[in-house]
Amino acid sequence: MHGEKTASRTGRSVDIPATQPMSSPQEQWSAVDRYLADLLVPSDPVLEAALESSAASGLPEIQVSANQGKLLELLARIQGARKILELGTLGGYSTIWLARALPAGGQLVTLEADPKHAAVARANIARAGLEAIVDLRVGPALETLPLIEAECRGPFDLIFLDADKPGYPDYLPWLLKLSRRGTLIIADNVVRDGAVIEADSADPKVQGVRRFNQLLANEPRVRATAIQTVGSKGYDGFAIALVIGEPRDGQRRPPA
Ligand SMILES: C[S@@+](CC[C@H](N)C(=O)[O-])C[C@H]1O[C@@H](n2cnc3c(N)ncnc32)[C@H](O)[C@@H]1O
Repeated sequence: MHGEKTASRTGRSVDIPATQPMSSPQEQWSAVDRYLADLLVPSDPVLEAALESSAASGLPEIQVSANQGKLLELLARIQGARKILELGTLGGYSTIWLARALPAGGQLVTLEADPKHAAVARANIARAGLEAIVDLRVGPALETLPLIEAECRGPFDLIFLDADKPGYPDYLPWLLKLSRRGTLIIADNVVRDGAVIEADSADPKVQGVRRFNQLLANEPRVRATAIQTVGSKGYDGFAIALVIGEPRDGQRRPPA
């Protein structure tokens, strides 16, 4: 049987077998991601260069996929975001997607603990022509978040949480402090291959996202859900929360 030929994001022609079964779910998820990216997320030299320089510098390949990057960009556009906060810059791949959604005068603050990651990100952001828009702060987010608040950089319209997973529960109060009614908070990697349902997991990342999900569920100031995803990055998911109460309103009132 003949497979279909399609142009890949790198411009090369790739074969998509028409009938041959994929040998693993991951192969199928990756092939479908490539198909969708080829159609809807055309190759972009600046983003490709960011990925290449990150890989060449030895950064872990744990950035969002192209499809997910575009989803972030779309959410920022839908939100009409003028101020964006990101926790976890890595090489700046998601930063570039998000910053490109900003209108003139928009700002993005991104927080990265690892100086090596930050240096690669700075170069990638500069190559993208976004250095005037992006404020990259180096240091553990629990140290830089209070500075962002003290400098009155908020409230942010959209917050992308993608830093260390054990820290997620500690970040949520800060994200709320830096929000307004209507802020959109997106937290990545909250499913972790399904391990999120393992209450006794010894993995601090799993415990971190479990506590974060529970805090979201208990938090009266947000309306939230979480979605499982499969794709080239495996099986995971993201939580999405809309701030519906003023951040300093306090806790849920007891029922009357
Ligand atoms: C999953 S990567 C971010 C990927 C990036 N958002 C993207 O999609 O292109 C997580 C990043 O968070 C950083 N990180 C880890 N702990 C942190 C902390 N305490 N504060 C800020 N960043 C941290 C890591 O160094 C890493 O670069």
